[in-house]
Amino acid sequence: MKARGTESSKKLVCGGAAAAWLLVPLLVVVVLKTDCLPQVTRLRETNTTQLSDFFFSMRQYGLVSISKINGVTGNQVQYPGATKEDVVQSVTQVSDETVGKVSSSGLESERISQQQQPQLEVDKLEAADGMPKTTVNSDSVAEAPPSSASGDKIAGDGVDAIKDLKNEKDFLAMNGQINGSLQNSDVAAAAPRSKLTCNFSSRHMDICAMDGDVRVHGKSATVYVVVASNDSYWPENGTVTVRPFTRKYEISTMEMVREVTIRPSRTGDTAPPRCTVTHDVPAVVFSTGPDRGNFFHGMGDLVIPLYNTAREYDGHVQLMATDYNPGFISHYQHVLAALSVYPVIDFDADEAVHCFPSVRVGIETHGELQIDPALSKKGYTMMDFRDFLRSAYSLKHAWTTPAIRSSEKRPRLVMVLREHSRAITNEAETIATATEVGFDVVAAGPEMVHDVAQFAEVVNSCDVIVGVHGAGLTNMLFLPHNGTVMQIIPWGGLKFICWHEFGRPVPDMGLRYVEYEVDPEETTLKDVYPRDHPVFTDPISIQHQGFSTLFSIFLDGQNVTLNMDRFRGVMQQIYRSVTIT
Ligand SMILES: *[C@@H]1O[C@H](CO)[C@@H](O)[C@H](O)[C@H]1NC(C)=O
Ligand SMILES: *[C@@H]1O[C@H](CO)[C@@H](O)[C@H](O)[C@H]1NC(C)=O
Ligand SMILES: *[C@@H]1O[C@H](CO)[C@@H](O)[C@H](O)[C@H]1NC(C)=O
Ligand SMILES: *[C@@H]1O[C@H](CO)[C@@H](O)[C@H](O)[C@H]1NC(C)=O
Ligand SMILES: *[C@@H]1O[C@H](CO)[C@@H](O)[C@H](O)[C@H]1NC(C)=O
Ligand SMILES: *[C@@H]1O[C@H](CO)[C@@H](O)[C@H](O)[C@H]1NC(C)=O
Ligand SMILES: *[C@@H]1O[C@H](CO)[C@@H](O)[C@H](O)[C@H]1NC(C)=O
Repeated sequence: MKARGTESSKKLVCGGAAAAWLLVPLLVVVVLKTDCLPQVTRLRETNTTQLSDFFFSMRQYGLVSISKINGVTGNQVQYPGATKEDVVQSVTQVSDETVGKVSSSGLESERISQQQQPQLEVDKLEAADGMPKTTVNSDSVAEAPPSSASGDKIAGDGVDAIKDLKNEKDFLAMNGQINGSLQNSDVAAAAPRSKLTCNFSSRHMDICAMDGDVRVHGKSATVYVVVASNDSYWPENGTVTVRPFTRKYEISTMEMVREVTIRPSRTGDTAPPRCTVTHDVPAVVFSTGPDRGNFFHGMGDLVIPLYNTAREYDGHVQLMATDYNPGFISHYQHVLAALSVYPVIDFDADEAVHCFPSVRVGIETHGELQIDPALSKKGYTMMDFRDFLRSAYSLKHAWTTPAIRSSEKRPRLVMVLREHSRAITNEAETIATATEVGFDVVAAGPEMVHDVAQFAEVVNSCDVIVGVHGAGLTNMLFLPHNGTVMQIIPWGGLKFICWHEFGRPVPDMGLRYVEYEVDPEETTLKDVYPRDHPVFTDPISIQHQGFSTLFSIFLDGQNVTLNMDRFRGVMQQIYRSVTIT
């Protein structure tokens, strides 16, 4: 099941000779299975650490926050220690070398192992366990501390990492002895040894894990850890605060996230409130505040991190959303129902004191549309996540079935069409060409894409997804394994950026990646700027002017008019790669 884990360390890059062939304007990279086409034969190992560090630096300037397009602006943050020029300079250096990495090696073994194993059946969860086990105390005085067994079970399950952390700089060291008497005598009787561990070292998020007697008061955004043991993290000021969202490096985004205070009570100086509702399942607290309906961000910043954090409880987990966003909750209802058999609690509005044997504040990400099995406590992969999605949306096709060229049944291709920017001006011609080549084409405009469940089914019925760079390409998540993703990259030196968001994650999803970078003749920018303008001669200098310039010219300011001869050629290559004779 976790066969993909070892794959991530040996991804292949089609690069090196890149510098030369990147200059050829009619650039198409088609990479299938482990092979690259002849013009991109030099393979080398990718240093993903370097890439992600590099990308992170770009993020610091908002240079690459290109998907944040639905009304959120100004997400540039300070980044001490590097000048903007350093970053932009490295953009040009790295971009030529790092494009086109694809590897689907291991797909075959994954397929075999999947065929041998029963598929995950998330939708059967409810049937398996019946009613939610929540005790509501009508008598608010009485309370049942959680059994130490339930706490231990979870604590033993990988959370107990504190002993490895003493020397980690960013990890808060354990400290102190337990002293002092408990004012809250009903607690003292049972005195479960609750435990608090926090990890602040990720650039993406902060996470705290609590086990034992944990009491959550949503209205005041406070989590009490009652009688934390002396091997817990013990914050200097008696409390620790976490903003439970996954874009820690974007200050303006994190400002939309309510701060949750975690208050260990050891000495009794902060007597914890009594439980009004006692749960026998863990809780996960996260924020839906920054969600603006962008599918890339919804999946990347929230859904995948929620999966990473909550999937292990197999539905028996209480999700609690601060900055409760009804739009997010309804848009992703299928996924949320597959992650938890209980409705999501509106944290900020909740006056109850919910007691849990275990609570996580914060959700875990390893990068947008990525899961690193080495970092995942349960060794999850993006293949696992896609299997989970398929189950959550009851999608039929686990794997593509290659069509036979001479047969009636054509391979299916879904084209995600944008409307206001990065639109394909010759849409009809494009669709006609793909059809002529042999595809059964589904043209998907914004109205069709909007209903996730419905569109998931459409995408899952296809072999290929095609679209100009944009959030709509995130729907690749619903393709059957071994499907093909084609990203059309607009003009403007955006190759690396686009690859990073929608190319790099593709192999780990068990999909194949093709990219098509438009040339100066294929952009509507040519109707606005003369060909000797820096927009064409030196697009990187435009990027130097900052993200808002990059955005307004290259992302918001162009449509593309595809060259039908060139496009047909690429379609034919893809057609051949997804069909058999
Ligand atoms: C990858 O890059 C990082 C940061 O530059 C470096 O520390 C590491 O040794 C490199 N790894 C390999 C395998 O080259
Ligand atoms: C805790 O109590 C013990 C004895 O009860 C005492 O020796 C020790 O100094 C106390 N520690 C602190 C940090 O107060
Ligand atoms: C803390 O988070 C970092 C970054 O995500 C990770 O590398 C490290 O292993 C984590 N530490 C523990 C103990 O989980
Ligand atoms: C924790 O405290 C108990 C008694 O309060 C003591 O016996 C134990 O050694 C302490 N553990 C650590 C790791 O300090
Ligand atoms: C403790 O509180 C002081 C004063 O509010 C603050 O300056 C300091 O940063 C806090 N320390 C921690 C670790 O939160
Ligand atoms: C792109 O096309 C759309 C739809 O036709 C149009 O509304 C928009 O103004 C165009 N944008 C540019 C920059 O040409
Ligand atoms: C993926 O598709 C290609 C072409 O359709 C086929 O040759 C290959 O065997 C497939 N791989 C898997 C693992 O199904």
